[in-house]
Amino acid sequence: MSSQTTFEIEDKYVAPFFVKQKISIDKGDGVFVWDEEGIRYIDFTSGWGVTCIGHAQPVITEALLSQSKKILQNPNSGLTYSPARAGLLSILMGVMPPHLTHVFFSNSGAEANDAAIKLARKVTNRLDVISTHQSFHGRTISTASATGQASHREKFNPLMPNYRFVTYGDLDDLEQALDENVAAFIIEPIQGEGGVHILSEKYLKEVERLCSQNGTLLIADEVQTGFCRTGPMFVTGGMGVKVDFLTMAKGIAGGFPFGGFAMSEEVASRLEIGDHGGTYCGNPLGCAVAHSVIKYLIDHNISAHVEHMGRICIEIMGQWKERYPDVIKDIRGKGLLIIIEFADSDIAKAVSDECLVRKLFVRQTQGNGIRIFPALNIKENELKEGLGIMQAAIGQVAG
Ligand SMILES: Cc1ncc(COP(=O)(O)O)c(C=O)c1O
Repeated sequence: MSSQTTFEIEDKYVAPFFVKQKISIDKGDGVFVWDEEGIRYIDFTSGWGVTCIGHAQPVITEALLSQSKKILQNPNSGLTYSPARAGLLSILMGVMPPHLTHVFFSNSGAEANDAAIKLARKVTNRLDVISTHQSFHGRTISTASATGQASHREKFNPLMPNYRFVTYGDLDDLEQALDENVAAFIIEPIQGEGGVHILSEKYLKEVERLCSQNGTLLIADEVQTGFCRTGPMFVTGGMGVKVDFLTMAKGIAGGFPFGGFAMSEEVASRLEIGDHGGTYCGNPLGCAVAHSVIKYLIDHNISAHVEHMGRICIEIMGQWKERYPDVIKDIRGKGLLIIIEFADSDIAKAVSDECLVRKLFVRQTQGNGIRIFPALNIKENELKEGLGIMQAAIGQVAG
């Protein structure tokens, strides 16, 4: 097939939800991808924070191959035991905050959040859910209801009842909202889709205290921040913040659709048979891949590497901000989740388009931002090659 044929078929049959980029990706290797014509691009989006150890990663290929030769899906699915699932649980529990003792696997982040919200209602016997403005928790009806961005909500009103919002990072707002009806407070420890907003450890520890005092379960949505994206394996784990549920997806299986949620012993003790399930619920293929990814993150000390690469980015981008003060308003980030905020969305779009012309994928975020979240094992020279393209693109747009 040629790119042209692929465009025609997708444009004809794919549901019309996206403004597509006219590039048809055929293959990848590490942080690089190639289109059908063999043109090479650098991927600073890692498929939206997913291919955390790079494209066509050999340890993933090996896990896929060897597990697929054995079994993909168990008879009676989760009712039977699986050495692949047990292997994943063993390695995952070694990196999970120790107070989170039980896990259930899902296929996506939205599904994990959906389940955590549902189960929090059951455990507390309360209905209300508090979330934060600008948050993003998924696109199912309950996670869209928990998402604090009008663009993801307003066309679908009325959404689920009993969802309320507080200002991200505002403790007084949360304190006032917490009452005897609140089952759960769901929060991203760093907002990703909302524009890379970072919370302090002090704030999150206070949130833990307020929720616990109110009998409200705290759900940390680490779908985007988990698995070393910002340095530590999990943001809340790194800070010692004790949450009741921790949800995960994206990086967990490096590109294979997979997710999960972990819960405390106390929460698990209040759940019973039939409270949750699913057709796949820890399918052996997904488990084998996730195991290979987590093992890679540990064996290669990716956490330290991410912190190092993140510092390089912030330092280089800081120089751009000094050079183009009218164009760049702010630079925020932690590890390899970074946003450059431009003066307006036209500039951000122009820079993003110019990056693509120069064969670099970045992600325009919240209109005036460009977010980068490349593979976590990116090499310094690859990072600098991509940053060089961004710098040239910004220079071109700034004139
Ligand atoms: C913080 C957060 N939660 C949930 C989701 C939804 O995950 P998924 O797209 O796998 O359903 C996302 C996706 O971007 C996310 O960033």
